[in-house]
Amino acid sequence: MASPQIHPGQVKQVAVFASGAGSNAAKIIEHFRSSSIGRVCLVVCNNPGAGVLTVAEKENVPVLIIERKKFNQDGYLPELRDLSIDLLVLAGFLWKIPPVLINAYPGKIVNIHPALLPKYGGKNMYGKAVHEAVLAAGEKESGITIHYVDEMYDHGATILQVKCDVDNTDTAESLADKIHVLEHSCYARAIEELILKN
Ligand code: GRF
Repeated sequence: MASPQIHPGQVKQVAVFASGAGSNAAKIIEHFRSSSIGRVCLVVCNNPGAGVLTVAEKENVPVLIIERKKFNQDGYLPELRDLSIDLLVLAGFLWKIPPVLINAYPGKIVNIHPALLPKYGGKNMYGKAVHEAVLAAGEKESGITIHYVDEMYDHGATILQVKCDVDNTDTAESLADKIHVLEHSCYARAIEELILKN
């Protein structure tokens, strides 16, 4: 495989946006800890009680706690620019991304969804609700979708989908576990490929 064309000093600065436990954030931070192409230099969080804050503290990654009014107004763009953030990675982040950020970061905002979009996405389709809907519909497979972010929930162009079987014995919890395993093995590498392509 050809070596990536990355020059010293061109380490892409990644901000991970998360609202919850942060297991994906942890994997992404770990993946890029010794990378020569990218670094997670900020965790952005809207929930002061979120587990991802403990992850960030343990990993020594600075945190930006955001509040909704300012987020919808200026997207915290000045703060992101001050830190020279290149890429926004959503990992269980529950707020819609405002137009100011979509416009400032074209093709540079990605999300992961725990189902095979375009099915089982959209407003209120997060966490257990996604897996319950998949099971209620009798789907034989589910999986993950990594996609670009636009102004609609779970809507931008797909970057990668990976499938898993849904078994008769699956519950929302067991399906969530299977899907977390897929997420943890795929998301950081997909981000890395995106960095290398840009
Ligand atoms: C993941 O399942 C992701 O697909 C979804 O939110 C969940 C976040 O989990 N967008 P965690 O906080 O990373 O553990």
